[in-house]
Amino acid sequence: MSKIHAAITGVHGYVPDYVLSNKELEKMVDTSDEWILTRTGISERRILKGEGLGVSDMAVHAVKGLLEKTNTRPEDIELVIFCTVTPDLVFPASANILCDKAGLVNAWGYDLGAACSGFLFGLTTGSKFIESGMHKKVIVVGGDKMSAIIDYTDRATCVIFGDGCGAVLLEPTEEAVGLMDADLHSDGSGRTFLHQKAGGSVKPASHETVDAREHFVYQEGKQVFRFAVTNMAESAATVMERNHLKPEDVAWLVPHQANLRIIDATADRMGVGREKIMINIQKFGNTTNGTLPLCLWEWEKQLKKGDNLILAAFGGGFTWGAVWLKWAYSA
Ligand code: ACO
Repeated sequence: MSKIHAAITGVHGYVPDYVLSNKELEKMVDTSDEWILTRTGISERRILKGEGLGVSDMAVHAVKGLLEKTNTRPEDIELVIFCTVTPDLVFPASANILCDKAGLVNAWGYDLGAACSGFLFGLTTGSKFIESGMHKKVIVVGGDKMSAIIDYTDRATCVIFGDGCGAVLLEPTEEAVGLMDADLHSDGSGRTFLHQKAGGSVKPASHETVDAREHFVYQEGKQVFRFAVTNMAESAATVMERNHLKPEDVAWLVPHQANLRIIDATADRMGVGREKIMINIQKFGNTTNGTLPLCLWEWEKQLKKGDNLILAAFGGGFTWGAVWLKWAYSA
């Protein structure tokens, strides 16, 4: 019997309507459109407004759209992996809540936390359930409501992040397409540079933690930048080299959208030109787990069966990696 591959057979995304522009941020903190644009490449980002709405509410839109366009019945989904750092609640998992809201009555699911690398980790683990033969329909969701954990008085972080969510359907195929290789890493010694100080079991929420603004993203940007620029590029190059992929073999680089300068450095290391990079950071900012599926969603119509895609990411933890994906269908 030939090997079972896990192929992405559909992708859909959702971003909220509200646009938070650099101009509006200029009124909130001491920053400028020019600084944000030149240092990060971001012009605007989307924000989920409305009482009682969490990341699962964006995911429901993405998943319902995904089921519709792939002609999949909700009851046929067997597993949902929800990659996020901003779950609706500490528990139960947002995957559970999503299954309920989207009518995925026969699915089991769990949340996966690997910061901005979450979608790559989720895509890889989800693929294993397909390749092993255990499941035939797996949904991997990547999304975050970063506005829930961003301090809009901190100019160093509030200009970077936005809200958004994407989802892919994984199904088995005997063709040589789908997830071909993954190079994934974690290094917990980097946790001090990018984290949320309170709200976990080490430092549960208290009046003091709220007063000290410790429930927001804390980031030492320079350190993260230095780390990201090297490791994301190296991981992408590793995947190419060990699979004998030359720059001309790569149809698309799908990079985590954290900073345009980091994206350019990764493309340079791979030898891939700007015309082959998916970039939407200018309008969505860094949606953490949402960046990669949102790129796939936006570029879906341009993708052709057999295209070699290199997905690359890094994030808090530290976590980082790259995935080689052979696209499974032409839109
Ligand atoms: N507007 C104006 N000035 C600012 C702003 C702002 N929004 N933010 C910082 N500055 C100032 C700083 O105060 C500093 O001023 P000083 O020199 O007087 O002290 C100056 O600009 C330079 O600050 P740096 O932090 O050194 O700026 P840098 O060029 O490193 O850019 C940035 C900052 C954009 C955050 C960059 O470091 C970066 O992109 N880092 C990587 C972040 C990242 O990718 N994180 C991804 C992981 S996210 C996740 O996993 C959840």
